[in-house]
Amino acid sequence: MKRIGICNNKGGVGKTTICFCLGGALAEMGKKILLVDMDQQGSLSSSFLPNIHDLPCVITDALLNDKKSIKEAVIKTEFENIDIANNYKGSPRFLFPLYLNNGTGDSKCDANKTSNSLA
Ligand SMILES: Nc1ncnc2c1ncn2[C@@H]1O[C@H](COP(=O)(O)OP(=O)(O)OP(=O)(O)O)[C@@H](O)[C@H]1O
Ligand SMILES: [Mg+2]
Repeated sequence: MKRIGICNNKGGVGKTTICFCLGGALAEMGKKILLVDMDQQGSLSSSFLPNIHDLPCVITDALLNDKKSIKEAVIKTEFENIDIANNYKGSPRFLFPLYLNNGTGDSKCDANKTSNSLA
């Protein structure tokens, strides 16, 4: 399995478009694709799913709730070889620590501590 991450602090530079096109191209080549859309805007997810407003589980629901499996956030799309996990309106708690620790080189990401100190 290969993982490809697409991220950039700047907005509107083509992150979502690259995920959409690269995911589609690789799926056409027969690769099994799981798109992990951490963006709370849900733009990538809404390109693949008819309704992202009433999904039972988003990625951060599963990460914050021991009783939920991350598999619950994975949804089959109507496109062959493409599944997607989305975080539409999900909690930002896992994104803040990654952002804040980026400058320090500290690899420890304690989501609870960081989100509490921000509150
Ligand atoms: N290679 C490209 N050439 C021309 N226009 C592009 C290209 N890639 C993306 N765009 C256009 O640029 C705009 C922004 O693209 P996109 O939404 O993918 O950026 P983003 O980085 O995901 O934005 P955001 O930060 O809001 O999530 C869209 O209108 C898209 O159609
Ligand atoms: Mg985007």
